[in-house]
Amino acid sequence: MQHSNSSETISSVSSATSLYDFNSSTPVQIEERLTINLIQSSSVPESNLEEGQDVIEGLSNRPKSLPPKYFYDELGSQLFEQICELPEYYLTRTEAAILQQYAGAIAQLTGPCELVELGSGSATKTRLLLDAYQDYGYPLTYIPIDVSGSMLTESAHQLLATYSDLRIHGLVSTYELALAQLPPTTLPTRMLCFIGSSLGNLTPEACDEFMTQVAAALQPGEYFLLGVDLHKSDDLLEAAYNDSQGVTAKFNLNMLHHLNWRFQGNFDSNQFEHVAFYNQAKRQIEIYLKSLTSQVATLRALNLTVNFAADEMLLSEISRKFDLQALTQTLQDHGLKPLKTFTDDKQWFGLLLCERQDNQPEEQ
Ligand code: AVI
Repeated sequence: MQHSNSSETISSVSSATSLYDFNSSTPVQIEERLTINLIQSSSVPESNLEEGQDVIEGLSNRPKSLPPKYFYDELGSQLFEQICELPEYYLTRTEAAILQQYAGAIAQLTGPCELVELGSGSATKTRLLLDAYQDYGYPLTYIPIDVSGSMLTESAHQLLATYSDLRIHGLVSTYELALAQLPPTTLPTRMLCFIGSSLGNLTPEACDEFMTQVAAALQPGEYFLLGVDLHKSDDLLEAAYNDSQGVTAKFNLNMLHHLNWRFQGNFDSNQFEHVAFYNQAKRQIEIYLKSLTSQVATLRALNLTVNFAADEMLLSEISRKFDLQALTQTLQDHGLKPLKTFTDDKQWFGLLLCERQDNQPEEQ
């Protein structure tokens, strides 16, 4: 999966380009059933921000903040895979159980369908959908979209080894760029999948913008499958982001190492602490890096010096927890009508199958 709500292509894309000569105009045919395209920001000029501009902006905010996409260097991605296995982190296994139970119903509802996945990553849960479409005897076409070219290529090879009739057209890209340039589908319809509750990592404003982009990318009658974490008791939520093995703390602190590497920085991660709590009013987990002392850090490549007061909190991520009724309304407002909502027995997690409506509602 692409774990981040990233707004820009980051290093893994360039590592992919050295492996395969990805280029936006020419899809690279890796093997008979696999092509991969790199979608570059130059084709969408307004998103062509200078690298690190978001770090400069975030660290000038009060409270200071950083985009969660900087969690995901190679170690960060591995730590996230570990988080998904933690006993306290119920999200991944609950969503997988819902998919396990209802993938057949989803396939039945959509009929033969191209599967497009935003933030495909290791595509573990996607297999549950592919199994269901395969069981119905439907043709299997999968369009994974991920900023990590190496991750995308690796998981594509693994999927091709399992599904002998599967065709994959991977897009190495951010969500925004891929949504703006989705190739026409070759099957009767398509389903855009955004599972894993990554929607929760977007602010309400970014979420609105994202849904607008999704609706614009789909034709009327096409589908959007959305997985979201639901509001629940503080204790359960806070335990999921403060695990007893300290993996989430490592994941959070690793962002500083990643910034040091990427922007020639000198953050001392020993001088920061992981803090996560549930903000009831905003219905979101807030994850911070708390500065343990008054200190100064520099990011030479960005020509940036940052002062921290003792106990100052830097916001590294929000993880919103949704209310199904309100979310249904928001989706509808964006022309994405939930046809069916699947949840687990405890109503911890929701999977919404939406249909793109004919008429886009008026701008709000
Ligand atoms: C990727 N995203 C859905 C995770 C979440 O739960 O919001 C990221 C995460 N951060 C800390 N633990 C997991």
